[in-house]
Amino acid sequence: MTDSSVAKQLVDAIIANLPEPAPGLRPVHTIGVGVDGYFIASEVARTFCIAEHFKGRRIRASVRFSNGFGGPQQHDGWSDVRGMATRFHLRDDMQDGPATDLIATTLGEFFARNVEDFFEFTRIARQQPVQKQSPWRKIFDMLQLKAPVRDPYPNETTNTDAGALSYANRYRFAQLAVFQAGVIGAPVSYARATYHAIHTFWVKDPHGVRRPVRFSWQPVAGVCTTDPTAAPVDKYLRQELEDRLRRWPARFMLMMTIGEAGDALDDPTKPWPAKRVRVVMGTLTLTNLAKDQVADGERISFNPWHLVPGIEASEDPILEARREAYEVSRKMRGGCPLHRRQADAA
Ligand code: HEM
Repeated sequence: MTDSSVAKQLVDAIIANLPEPAPGLRPVHTIGVGVDGYFIASEVARTFCIAEHFKGRRIRASVRFSNGFGGPQQHDGWSDVRGMATRFHLRDDMQDGPATDLIATTLGEFFARNVEDFFEFTRIARQQPVQKQSPWRKIFDMLQLKAPVRDPYPNETTNTDAGALSYANRYRFAQLAVFQAGVIGAPVSYARATYHAIHTFWVKDPHGVRRPVRFSWQPVAGVCTTDPTAAPVDKYLRQELEDRLRRWPARFMLMMTIGEAGDALDDPTKPWPAKRVRVVMGTLTLTNLAKDQVADGERISFNPWHLVPGIEASEDPILEARREAYEVSRKMRGGCPLHRRQADAA
């Protein structure tokens, strides 16, 4: 297990890279919005996993959507990774009863295999002044099979793109994630993006068979990003969601991809082949923005190790590192303690 001093160093490394400190807030995914909803598992879900929320009854859910940037500045319209953290409340009659979390982002893969890679990334991918590259430079980069730096968005004076690209050009394993991040853009809505939990988890079926799986959320409304040539707006995602939910609920399908022999189980930088079996595990229906954005958004602390019987973490070192790093961050910002019976027992 990652010890708490490494966890503290991880959080400190993130904070050291912030353009502006954000005391009392999350050091990354700082800007977010809490949403209420419920999850109903599909008919087949229980045949693959015995976890409580896959048994088929209606499960209350709290979701926090977020922009990936760290710091209090809100730039919804900039190119950025987005987050979707979901808490499944397993007892409806208890406000703080047993629950389990699933944390996902719009990146399909991660840029680091372990904590050493992560530290190296934070050293290289530092905030730097951005400059618009000439078209010739871009062509030259592409001829050398290097990804060109994207154009800055209006008012974007610094970012980590150039450093992230030089990291990816040096380390092949990071290329998929860094290139994805470079072209990710801004969603027209938090409800119109696909979110991936990235890591492998093990699920247990009613016969005791364990399978390696990866989860992702598919938006029923479809994926759509804004036009990067049109001037993006700094703040629209929260309002858009509020307006959308006033008209109609937003839905996501929980997809579970089943790994096969030879698939990377402990390496979040490696994708699985596209032809793997995917099962619809259920539908999340989002109904309204949480009335109390502090309790049901900002102060929640999600943790990928907040699991229940039937789902186990893999030995992915990044997943391992997140367990304590999120706790350190939670304590630093004064977030609510987790219900971690399962994690503590592991
Ligand atoms: C070593 C790797 C990583 C480190 C050190 C790290 C660190 C952190 C920290 C410190 C927070 C704030 C936690 C809090 O204060 O509650 C956070 C939030 C978040 N992280 Fe990571 N993270 C890592 C990898 C990942 C990966 C692989 C994903 C993809 C699933 C991810 C997705 C998120 C999301 C969506 C949030 C916001 C959750 C919320 O709304 O509360 N992170 N991360």
